[in-house]
Amino acid sequence: MAQLTGMRALVTGASSGIGARIAVRLAALGAHVILTARRKSALEAVAKECGGSTEILVADLGQPGIATSLFEQAGTVDILVNNAGFGYFKAFADADWERDAELIQLNVTALVELSRRFIDARAGKTGHAYLLNVASTAAYQAVPNFAVYAASKVFVRNFTEALHDELVHAKSPVSATCICPGGTHTEFHELAGAGDYSWIANRSMLPADHVAALAVRAMLKRKRNVMPGFLNNLSSFMTRLAPRWLASFMATRVMGKPKRPLPARTRSAA
Ligand SMILES: NC(=O)c1ccc[n+]([C@@H]2O[C@H](COP(=O)([O-])OP(=O)(O)OC[C@H]3O[C@@H](n4cnc5c(N)ncnc54)[C@H](OP(=O)(O)O)[C@@H]3O)[C@@H](O)[C@H]2O)c1
Repeated sequence: MAQLTGMRALVTGASSGIGARIAVRLAALGAHVILTARRKSALEAVAKECGGSTEILVADLGQPGIATSLFEQAGTVDILVNNAGFGYFKAFADADWERDAELIQLNVTALVELSRRFIDARAGKTGHAYLLNVASTAAYQAVPNFAVYAASKVFVRNFTEALHDELVHAKSPVSATCICPGGTHTEFHELAGAGDYSWIANRSMLPADHVAALAVRAMLKRKRNVMPGFLNNLSSFMTRLAPRWLASFMATRVMGKPKRPLPARTRSAA
């Protein structure tokens, strides 16, 4: 693998799960890692694990306008990992606009805003730079009870793949890679109110470190898209062959029912 000594990597959602594992891997490759999320103490624990040269920037990307000020605070960024995201697993009618707006702000708007700042900042520079955006297998079909979340990941996937193609066409030293993880062992499911999954969903769950390793490898190879796991690749291939109503029905069966009582709305920023 390429050594990243001298490169500065900004990783969103670095306080836990996939983002934390990506940050540790980038640090192990020699990058100076800038960790961001809302929970300072969790970021400090990840920074300790990274060792070496790290910085922490506490920011709530679920609030409008924060992404640009975060990017300015980060200074030069050679690697941008847009990983922060959340979902709620319940019927659209049972949720509320405040939560929808926060989800779209974090999963979509902040991701585009940071990508915009990153691409603009690289204009005229010749050194290699990498953008890694985290989508999901949920980007491959409609997912009832995950309606807004799955749609946000469709956006991330299409946006990143289009950007990848533009950058390749322009022979840019910047690359854009999309990772589409399936179920991954993180706190995501508990927070979303999900987890009553079918055997196939449980069987295809992967460790966060494995997903992070594939993501970093694909990013350094300047790949367009990567999906971890044989079962995830098989089911997304079958999904493409099925009528869309059938793919949506299958997603409902695979994902099971929302858990009740519903979890706390969000983590505190402690
Ligand atoms: N786990 C899965 O099965 C799975 C599957 C496909 C895709 N993904 C995607 O993978 C990404 C990482 O999720 P994960 O599974 O690693 O779950 P996670 O452990 O819950 O991580 C989510 C990260 O996002 C951060 N975050 C949440 N709200 C934020 C906000 N308003 N502002 C800034 N940061 C915020 C969280 O930090 P704070 O709470 O400290 O802010 C945390 O670091 C997400 O985009 C998710 O959609 C996950």
